[in-house]
Amino acid sequence: MSLQNSLKRMTAPQIAARKGGEPIVSLTAYHAHTAALVDPHVDFLLVGDSLGMVMHGYSSTVPVPLDLMIMHGAAVVRGSTQALVVVDMPFGSYEESPQIAFRNAVRVMKETGCGAIKMEGGAHMAPTIDYLTKRGIPVMAHIGLTPQSVNMMGGFKTQGREKKDWARLEGDAQAVANAGAFAVVLEGMAELLAARITKMIAIPTIGIGASVDCDGQILVLEDMLGLSPRVPKFVKEFGNLGQAIENSVKAYASEVKSRQFPAREHVYAMKKGEGLEEAPQKKAVPRAKK
Ligand code: KIV
Repeated sequence: MSLQNSLKRMTAPQIAARKGGEPIVSLTAYHAHTAALVDPHVDFLLVGDSLGMVMHGYSSTVPVPLDLMIMHGAAVVRGSTQALVVVDMPFGSYEESPQIAFRNAVRVMKETGCGAIKMEGGAHMAPTIDYLTKRGIPVMAHIGLTPQSVNMMGGFKTQGREKKDWARLEGDAQAVANAGAFAVVLEGMAELLAARITKMIAIPTIGIGASVDCDGQILVLEDMLGLSPRVPKFVKEFGNLGQAIENSVKAYASEVKSRQFPAREHVYAMKKGEGLEEAPQKKAVPRAKK
């Protein structure tokens, strides 16, 4: 990635400046080719640690290693040119101390070329957000349902549906904003509370399973494309790629079996002058039906 390329991209301050303005559009991306397809239509691409579940078959994001995030982050940067790329800090790579978080975030920034990192956690992560942002690392915060804490929450539980929890969650939002986060993801949060927090804090809120009143929205790409086996309530499927893939694979298998594929246009003829220019035409030989 050239420096010029990185300077043409959307930046964290530009995202922050969208508070209360045109809604911020974002999606996850894990590889170069999907990043290239999504890039022209979004303000930022999130290389979420959800890739552990979506791409690698883990049952939570807890096992995801830092090196895996770096590998996918670099691929998404290579595949995109205009969106800000935000890379998730995985579980265990930032909670211990601001210094360890800084060291690992520096690796992510240097080795992927991304423009910002994201970390889960509210008030208790504020000192770390302050430490990183004062040292040149733009931080997107993430509060509400924080999937890395699945073992503490006892499952993926929607937050803020009881009023008694509002003060704590509002405190989290205020703390990460005051600490210097340029935006905050509100995940799996009661709609009324997400709307209240959006009014209350000075940085953009990015909703997922939150509220249409958030300053922006994010979804996991595979969920909204209809590629995921389980569709949470907050996901709208804007496509049905799962079905399209299945149909294409079935058609391929059938053409391989009936020798319709590869056809003449998919094979290489001999060079002229070899006396063998006319590559023998393979006849499609349908297999006898069982
Ligand atoms: O990991 C992820 O994809 C995320 C989004 C769901 C916000 O954190």
